[in-house]
Amino acid sequence: MSAALMAGPAPQEPLKTQQKCIAIFALLCCFSVLVALIFSSVEIWGDVEDGITEENCCSDCSIELVENIPDDLFLPKDGRPHLPLSAGFHILLDQAKHSVEVVSPAWSLNPWDLETTPSTAKQGQLLFQRLLSLKSRGVKLKIASSLTNSAELKTLAAHNAEVRFINMTALTRGELHSSFWIVDRKHIYIGSADMDWRSLSKRKELGLVLYNCSCLALDLHRVFLFYWQLHDKDYIPSIWSKRVTALYGRHDALELQLNSTEASAYVSTSPELFCSKDRTRDVDAIYQVIQSAKTFIFISVTDYLPLVSRSFRGTTSTRYWSHIDEMIREAVVLRGIKVHLLISFWKKTHPLTFNFVTSLKSLCMQLHNCSFEVRFFSHKEQKEDVEHGLNHNKYMVTDNGLYIGNHDWVGSDFAMSAGVGLVVKMTNSPTDRGVTILEYVKAAFERDWRSRYAKDLQVNRDQQGKYRHLLQKRIHMEPKEENKWNDPLPL
Ligand SMILES: *[C@@H]1O[C@H](CO)[C@@H](O)[C@H](O)[C@H]1NC(C)=O
Ligand SMILES: *[C@@H]1O[C@H](CO)[C@@H](O)[C@H](O)[C@H]1NC(C)=O
Ligand SMILES: *[C@@H]1O[C@H](CO)[C@@H](O)[C@H](O)[C@H]1NC(C)=O
Ligand SMILES: *[C@@H]1O[C@H](CO)[C@@H](O)[C@H](O)[C@H]1NC(C)=O
Repeated sequence: MSAALMAGPAPQEPLKTQQKCIAIFALLCCFSVLVALIFSSVEIWGDVEDGITEENCCSDCSIELVENIPDDLFLPKDGRPHLPLSAGFHILLDQAKHSVEVVSPAWSLNPWDLETTPSTAKQGQLLFQRLLSLKSRGVKLKIASSLTNSAELKTLAAHNAEVRFINMTALTRGELHSSFWIVDRKHIYIGSADMDWRSLSKRKELGLVLYNCSCLALDLHRVFLFYWQLHDKDYIPSIWSKRVTALYGRHDALELQLNSTEASAYVSTSPELFCSKDRTRDVDAIYQVIQSAKTFIFISVTDYLPLVSRSFRGTTSTRYWSHIDEMIREAVVLRGIKVHLLISFWKKTHPLTFNFVTSLKSLCMQLHNCSFEVRFFSHKEQKEDVEHGLNHNKYMVTDNGLYIGNHDWVGSDFAMSAGVGLVVKMTNSPTDRGVTILEYVKAAFERDWRSRYAKDLQVNRDQQGKYRHLLQKRIHMEPKEENKWNDPLPL
């Protein structure tokens, strides 16, 4: 019968074809939903190394503070020898057996385009060579980057590195500030340094390396996987694989041991669009650390600016971004917590920084139990290189916790740019826990705070005068360079 129907030009035929089409379409829909479900729940990438999972991961970690202190910066020794940053990177590479995953805002380990003395650039070149040689040891190098035309990335890609491009302009109109390493999904680095030779020579950097810490590495790897899957996309998918869901956060931090001390930790990210399911935002992580401080909060960042500037079609709108500013105000005025803010005074310091920190300082007027102090870290200005001796640190340490991130405390960065933070909180009171990573970071802060490079602008009238001058000049110039808060200005 059906044959007859099909053969003859029956009047029902158009209807039949339509029904068929609908049936096929419905089937296709079911099928694609099924495929989507399978893909989202099953590990299709099949790159689980050593079978490390949330169930069998290691949380008995060892933690180390790594710093780069430029040679000509004379900082008093605080009695605790820190591992140099470059040594930290080499130890991580020594440990690598399967994979090294790197995210960095910059790739300029070889100062090809700069006239520098070879000695200061040596560490960067050395690190680059070691990354190139990973291939010969059978170690896979994976890099997520927002750079489109980096010669170093091309070279690394030619040596078997897998490089994926993230178009930050299309995704958030921001930049990629994230800087971290994951080695074998066991060891991690997070801190202020980029894959830039300056980070290993003339810029002052601070970071943390955690060894044998696969639980935390697994979670940081999920952030990496998130970046990995943004490859060449110009939108952020609304549905994500379960494999990028956060494992830990501010409400369920990972309980771990850091050099045999009880602690908890989690990874945070920004901007909000980059927070996959259950992932804590950087601002919320900072809030939690400030909230739980009992006696002091020491903050060291290059820039502090509670403003968000967005430019769209040639016009820029700037708004006050209150989040961190109000957390600090509350801690200082209502909870009597001692806050020290160390920021850099350099060519790219936004002139309004001075107004915002003065405003914070004035809060303590006429209050007895109130302490907010700000100092500006500045090295002798080098005409040819503004980054020379720059304090590039981005962290906060309190009496019971620390936050180390990739962003300066600038509203626009948190709102639009990609970054990662790590929160570490100590479970026991200072007397019960002995010397921990907190004491190391605190000692590094106090060393910088008391150094000759940290200046109180209130005292130093000269500099203040210069700052006023700079401020007037900048405000005068603003209409012309609206969307360039960070443009260097000749001092
Ligand atoms: C990134 O996205 C922007 C905006 O969508 C586009 O103009 C640009 O060409 C993209 N860049 C690359 C390298 O794809
Ligand atoms: C990591 O753990 C392994 C095996 O337990 C140990 O041999 C190694 O020394 C540890 N590494 C560090 C840096 O603590
Ligand atoms: C200052 O505040 C702290 C914390 O609230 C409190 O422990 C201390 O007793 C206060 N000191 C004075 C002099 O009020
Ligand atoms: C933790 O232990 C490692 C390895 O023993 C050591 O190098 C490091 O300095 C220790 N870190 C702290 C904060 O004590």
